[in-house]
Amino acid sequence: MKLTDKVAVVTGGGSGIGRAISLAYAAEGADVVVVDQNLEGADETVARIVAVGRRGVAIRTDISDPAQITAMVERAADAFGHVDILVNVAGIMTAAALLDTSLEQWDRTLNTNLRGTFLCLQGIGRIMKEQGHGKIINTTSILGTHARPKRGAYAASKAGIILLTQTAAVELGPDGIQVNAIAPGSIETPMVMTAAVSAEAQAKKAAAIPLRRRGEPEDLTGAAVFLASADSDYITGAILTIDGGMTAGIE
Ligand SMILES: NC(=O)c1ccc[n+]([C@@H]2O[C@H](COP(=O)([O-])OP(=O)(O)OC[C@H]3O[C@@H](n4cnc5c(N)ncnc54)[C@H](O)[C@@H]3O)[C@@H](O)[C@H]2O)c1
Repeated sequence: MKLTDKVAVVTGGGSGIGRAISLAYAAEGADVVVVDQNLEGADETVARIVAVGRRGVAIRTDISDPAQITAMVERAADAFGHVDILVNVAGIMTAAALLDTSLEQWDRTLNTNLRGTFLCLQGIGRIMKEQGHGKIINTTSILGTHARPKRGAYAASKAGIILLTQTAAVELGPDGIQVNAIAPGSIETPMVMTAAVSAEAQAKKAAAIPLRRRGEPEDLTGAAVFLASADSDYITGAILTIDGGMTAGIE
């Protein structure tokens, strides 16, 4: 096993990609602190972690609220005595053309995806600095580097996460902390599949992907385990695209 007795904090662990990563870490021998604003989802993830013989703790946190992040970091530090891995997955997708985007939508998107990721990285990063080691994995998107209509606020938040990742890699490298990001393409989770798009349009989009299918959350877990394990000890500041080839070429 690649993560035996490591402790991971996974935000957004109550659903989709965050849940798949939490379960993959437990399967590799880690204990997991599952952070989500949806406590029911987080509890379900913890139940599955416990079922494979590892320890799990669910912490309800709205990462758009700085005070809740401060409280979460304290509880996460106490949960299992140390934190080796932080995976920032929690995020929201908002859809509106730029000229129709309200200030409320813009702020909600940036405050959750970008500011939330920053504050979790800062809080847990301070613990890792004291420990002298840590692995941080952020979640950006192919929409952080490739524009699509009606995704302006989301794209800005995900583009910000790329430079946040690289800046953190540069600043925290001397402290023994590696910071990388995964950039998923189109992954079948509630976030994507409940979008207001017909089944026919969804199928057409999937057929246009070079690997001819959308990803499953489990398609990201190999990379997430790799970036959390000793196998990636000389990798920092990397943005790993996992998109079935969506951004490899143009039509
Ligand atoms: N699904 C995709 O195709 C795709 C593609 C690229 C990037 N991503 C990114 O992956 C991440 C996970 O998305 P997913 O597809 O698993 O979606 P999801 O909706 O299944 O999961 C998101 C989780 O984040 C939690 N969350 C949302 N806002 C929160 C907040 N303020 N505080 C705490 N928790 C909060 C939700 O409760 C949920 O459990 C997101 O950052 C998303 O932008 C997803």
